[in-house]
Amino acid sequence: MPSEEDSISFEKSNMTIDSNEIETDNDSESDPNRVKDFVVTPWEVEGDIDYSKLIEKFGTRAIDDTLIEKIKNFTGEIHPFLKNKYFFSHRDLDVVLDEYKRGNKFYLYTGRGPSGLVHLGHLMPWLFTKYLQEKFNVNLIFQLTDDEKFLFNSNLDMEAIQKYTYENILDIISIGFDPKRTKIIVDTKHIKYLYPLSIEIAKKITYSTAKAVFGFSNSSNIGMIGFPPVQGAPCFLPSIFENKPTPVLIPAAIDQDPYWRVTRDVAEKLGYPKPAQIHSKFIPGLTSLGKMSSSRPETALFTVDEPEILETKIKNTFTGGQPTIALQRKLGGNANICPVYWYLNYLFDTEKESQERYNDCTGGNLLCGECKGDMIKKVKPFIKDIQIKRDKAQNLIKDFMIDGKDFFEDDNTGFN
Ligand code: TYM
Repeated sequence: MPSEEDSISFEKSNMTIDSNEIETDNDSESDPNRVKDFVVTPWEVEGDIDYSKLIEKFGTRAIDDTLIEKIKNFTGEIHPFLKNKYFFSHRDLDVVLDEYKRGNKFYLYTGRGPSGLVHLGHLMPWLFTKYLQEKFNVNLIFQLTDDEKFLFNSNLDMEAIQKYTYENILDIISIGFDPKRTKIIVDTKHIKYLYPLSIEIAKKITYSTAKAVFGFSNSSNIGMIGFPPVQGAPCFLPSIFENKPTPVLIPAAIDQDPYWRVTRDVAEKLGYPKPAQIHSKFIPGLTSLGKMSSSRPETALFTVDEPEILETKIKNTFTGGQPTIALQRKLGGNANICPVYWYLNYLFDTEKESQERYNDCTGGNLLCGECKGDMIKKVKPFIKDIQIKRDKAQNLIKDFMIDGKDFFEDDNTGFN
């Protein structure tokens, strides 16, 4: 465990939670990741995702109006990502809110697997996490699983991953998290904070459970099989920092849920509260169904893309439009499968604007070029703003790292 001199400078909160109060879910025995017509795993998201079916298969709960009202009691408003159901599913969010009301604070926990540059999809859970940090005034652990990306990608070496890790940290800082309340953990740099917890978790998970949940096979390398407890460990770190049971709330897209499913299964056995989650949908790729993905750059709008690149990518994107203007006017477009419609809906349009866009598109009164033009107008300044903040972030890394060191500070062999 981190020693006194590691001096993690989160302010102390006064959380007590009885982990026995949280009901058990023994849902890790089957492989719920693969559903007919679409696939959602932490490493693969493909097809036309039916989110209601995912809730059923993963055994999570829909975020209903009652829960949204409950959140509003703390935030004073309904965030657009809740209004438009971008965050649609959860585990124990109600429990965490009830505890918060009793004065027991949670920690936020989210992360990034640095396999490439950061794109619009990654920003969504982070923007929401920042909002929650502000509204609830809570600490955040931000994990970068460079080890995961090394082990799971045969074409990535550690040199490339380290470069992406650094670049991704600039993006994370540019979101505007509170440096006093945010600690970044890079697995290969800061493993001492995680290792004692991860072996506790690992000891409680059998290979047969890991195989069922994550789909490991005889050809999986053994590092892959051993990795999930490393992503589970930050769920319990707040209890160590606070010296009492302290739950985490994890904002992320639903692809990460299998990790939490196994971690929840072992939490009580280890004497920690089960991690709670708030799950989002996916920002679709530019070229296809499935998600925007940094390992398929043609599907993504990156935070480092120049304005002309953004414009070209958006102009070339797949839409739900008809092949000709005449047919579009006659038959209308299919907004439901159109990435441009969804980007605007999730990020930029108000509820009213989005409804009008939907009606105009499906009614044949709006052409794809017009929506693309709207998107270009909104995305360019949005990304520009991030780029300005990224430049400044280079000097702020120390303030966010869990060990208080700069990214490259430890990178010598000791022989010089
Ligand atoms: P990664 O790097 O694949 O994704 C980082 C975060 O972005 C979400 N995400 C998306 N959300 C919307 N639309 C998309 N197209 C899209 N693509 C990715 C992911 O759900 C995630 O929230 N193993 C993790 C890293 C990690 C982590 C965590 C993530 C470690 N600890 C705790 C969330 C919470 C990973 O590779 O994420």
